[in-house]
Amino acid sequence: MADNGTKHPPGSAGIPLLGDKSYDFYKDPPSFFEKNAKHYKSRVFLTRFLLKPTVFVGSSQGLIDIFADKDNCNELGYKTFLGQIFGENILFTDGKPAEQLREALFQLFTDDCIKTYQQTVDRIVDKAIQSLDTSKPLCIYAFFKRLVTEICLTLFLGLDFDEMKDLSETISSLTTTHWHGIISMPLSVKVPGLGSQSTYSKALQAKIELLKVIEARRKEDKKGFHVKLEEIDELDDSTINNHLLLFTSALVPKAISSLLTSFIVETGKPDKISWQKACLLDEEFHEHLLLEVQRFYPPFFGGRREVIKDFVVDGYTIPAGQSIVYSTTAAHRDPLVFNNPDQFYPGRWNTSNKEELKKKLFCFGKDNRSCVGDRLVWVIINTILKKMMTKYEWSLVENQDINYKWLPVSKPKSGVICQLTERSS
Ligand code: HEM
Repeated sequence: MADNGTKHPPGSAGIPLLGDKSYDFYKDPPSFFEKNAKHYKSRVFLTRFLLKPTVFVGSSQGLIDIFADKDNCNELGYKTFLGQIFGENILFTDGKPAEQLREALFQLFTDDCIKTYQQTVDRIVDKAIQSLDTSKPLCIYAFFKRLVTEICLTLFLGLDFDEMKDLSETISSLTTTHWHGIISMPLSVKVPGLGSQSTYSKALQAKIELLKVIEARRKEDKKGFHVKLEEIDELDDSTINNHLLLFTSALVPKAISSLLTSFIVETGKPDKISWQKACLLDEEFHEHLLLEVQRFYPPFFGGRREVIKDFVVDGYTIPAGQSIVYSTTAAHRDPLVFNNPDQFYPGRWNTSNKEELKKKLFCFGKDNRSCVGDRLVWVIINTILKKMMTKYEWSLVENQDINYKWLPVSKPKSGVICQLTERSS
């Protein structure tokens, strides 16, 4: 029992090394969560993860409490894993400095800014969709990943993929090497013997190269996103470069492609093809489908916090010094909030309490540390889907394995092959 009369979460922090559950978690994150939640009869439980006592939180109310963090009991806790590979940026900042950085970064996503981004997005998406080859099946994840990478590098670094082919390819390849370092991190740092040191060193080298390209692009390109960043007084040169590194990292195209691919997976099933036309005719149905895609297939399994002051989550007190892993995937399947949570059912959003239910989606975080780029994400997703649906119909090629992997970004294990045909009317 904690001093405030609440209970500590059920479970055990185990014995160092022997009791660590990292392998179990990485093998299959959703099963790890549901198995323990069932065992402890609680969607908040204590275990040992990455060698630290860690409370897993996968109840909807738990995530609401974590994001609200009314008494400032938490720090974000991403720096240990990602600090070196990204350098100082907002994700590794807490308290007042984080508030100031957020305020500064929001200036990049005002209505006026979004309008100018929309023009760039339209141009690149039109070009990509016009040039699609419908004579053979298409790996849709690879298509989205390439397209969104081009959009991000054009928006954030002012690249022109047609006129700067070599540079675009070099940067795309550097972001891939950098990404491999990001995903080798948690295990190689925390669990000796796992992960590859050389992958990590190559990623650090890629980071240096990317920062050089970013510096050069800032000098060459006289318009666009980085100019907006430079206009913000509070940001010095290295803060600008590090944020451009964060925004151009492979993480963003992967997360956006994850949502787009999941949309195609659900609407390309033989009995769901009619949903595509329904989306074109009925904005609300399209919205419900996208809400259900977010609920069922959030791009990120979850995130972290470090508890610096005893913290009450969903009625349990988590003592200072412990870590938190919150699971968006689990909270989106909390049966206290969503009926038949394991069923993909857009109709659940056709309800009078839709606005309340939307507050239980956590794909982009919430409150003080919510995603600053979510409006841009929706510009990109809606533009791509609207233009694709207007021109094409798609169906999944038969007999492919559509099982998902959840880390580091959720997506079907295979790339998802579909056949496109021109829409007749
Ligand atoms: C589908 C794409 C994306 C997803 C799913 C996503 C998701 C998230 C989530 C869940 C957080 C909160 C993390 C936490 O509280 O633990 C976050 C934070 C953040 N996101 Fe995104 N994001 C996406 C795209 C973007 C884009 C395009 C940008 C900017 C260009 C961006 C910039 C940021 C920043 C700067 C933060 C940190 C905010 C802070 O620490 O206060 N994100 N994002």
